[in-house]
Amino acid sequence: MQDIIRQLEEKRERARKGGGQKRIDAQHAKGKLTARERIELLLDPGSFEEWDMFVEHQATDFGMAEKTIPGDGVVTGFGTVNGRLIFVFSQDFTVFGGSLSEAHAGKICKIMDQAMKVGAPVVGINDSGGARIQEGVTSLGGYAEVFQRNVLASGVVPQISLIMGPCAGGAVYSPAMTDFIFMVRDTSYMFVTGPDVVKTVTHEEVTLEELGGAGTHTTTSGVADKAFNNDAEALLSVRRFIDFLPANNTERPPSRPTPDPGDRVEESLDTLIPDDPAKPYDMKELIEKVVDEGDFFELQPDYAANIIIGFGRMEGATVGIVANQPMVVAGCLDISSSIKGGRFVRFCDCFNIPIVTFVDVPGFLPGTAQELGGIIKHGAKLLFAFAEATVPKVTVITRKAYGGAYDVMSSKHLRGDVNFAWPSAEIAVMGPKGAVEIIFRGDIGDEEKIAERTEEYRRRFANPFIAGHRGYIDDVIMPHNTRLRIAKSLGMLRTKKLDNPWKKHGNIPL
Ligand code: HXC
Repeated sequence: MQDIIRQLEEKRERARKGGGQKRIDAQHAKGKLTARERIELLLDPGSFEEWDMFVEHQATDFGMAEKTIPGDGVVTGFGTVNGRLIFVFSQDFTVFGGSLSEAHAGKICKIMDQAMKVGAPVVGINDSGGARIQEGVTSLGGYAEVFQRNVLASGVVPQISLIMGPCAGGAVYSPAMTDFIFMVRDTSYMFVTGPDVVKTVTHEEVTLEELGGAGTHTTTSGVADKAFNNDAEALLSVRRFIDFLPANNTERPPSRPTPDPGDRVEESLDTLIPDDPAKPYDMKELIEKVVDEGDFFELQPDYAANIIIGFGRMEGATVGIVANQPMVVAGCLDISSSIKGGRFVRFCDCFNIPIVTFVDVPGFLPGTAQELGGIIKHGAKLLFAFAEATVPKVTVITRKAYGGAYDVMSSKHLRGDVNFAWPSAEIAVMGPKGAVEIIFRGDIGDEEKIAERTEEYRRRFANPFIAGHRGYIDDVIMPHNTRLRIAKSLGMLRTKKLDNPWKKHGNIPL
């Protein structure tokens, strides 16, 4: 027996060493943690239960029969984050470059299947050279098995991808189908084809970083949700992030005690809106003053910054926040912001997270770039997402709500449950100046008359009361009471039940 125990320990030790000390040192020299160190930081101390430590690949070509390492380049299992169950896989770059073999894929699929059975999130830590080249098509099959599970798990359990090294070729499509992607600056990159292939095919010279670094994907492509400075910061932030999410689509969003009273009054909000309607202000200030303890986890902060998305809490329970940002292109909706907002709204709706929407939107962004880029189809994504969402929806119009963008931003007509406006709200088909230049075209050139008409239009339409008369706005509220009024509405909506008509699935304009 002693012998068997010793053999077991030796096997475990071999698996823990991965590709050996030299490769572990190389990993550290790049500023990266190993697969196991990452799991240790992600999970509560001592909570990790590892599975499949002894799995080995079955390949024999290219001398692979003699090269086996227990675990086969991925560490898998489950554990807890602040006491809540999650499943995790962490690719080990020290073993065959973290490349994905049939056996490696099988391990990932096993924990995904189990996560679905028990209803718990899956966190994937990606650090891999892609398909195991020595295995050929079986490794491609392995990827597809993972892809299929990503799709089936979508909307059932939250899926989070951490990119902590290379992620190239078709391998990027597994993270792409998960709910959130987080990257690490300078050590992670994602692309379908690398710089060398790009050069051969399009003759473009581009660096790894420019093509698929964290900067590119969090500012230009919008592929990733957030970038962190190093592995530790990323893993600790993901722990904080998971606290906002329900474990699965049958659960309510998590709630935790807060010292912040729901009836907290914020006098400073009464002066947030500048007197000049053309002057911007920072919508993030409003969000931070409304949510519990000012704790707002923003997603995609540097991409399509004209819309703000992220999670906060109201009286302890998670809410999703969507808000126009007047500081960036006056808060106009455009292609990128519609896609960004639409996807976030759909995540919230999948996972029963109420949506609080703050509106200050002058309309859709005009221009050939937008029209030729397909703003009609892409803008419709946000409209579709808000309209299909059945979770509690509370909307506050702080200033402008013009044109189609008024309808889109969780209006009463799209089954907004509670729609508030501040006294400064302007709800109309368009801004006063533009409106007057169209309906009083004959007066153009007569400055005085135009000014008079504009003032008349402003008085008549640039306020919340016309919408209020129709019941499109449930109440005009004082800015300092915004937190209190939202909190009371969300409390009332806790037992909301609303179902869409049965269908296989809708056909959101993709
Ligand atoms: C097998 C691999 C591997 C792979 C790396 N290794 N990628 N082994 N299959 N795909 C091994 C290397 O042989 C090496 O082994 C070790 O991992 C570390 O690799 P290095 O090249 O020394 O590391 P580095 O210089 O940091 O470069 C990392 C890299 C590079 C950029 C990822 O290894 C690379 O370009 N790999 C190939 C990437 C690729 O083309 N993959 C296939 C993509 S197509 P030793 O023993 O020397 O330590 C794909 C299709 C998916 O993935 C389709 C899904 C549908």
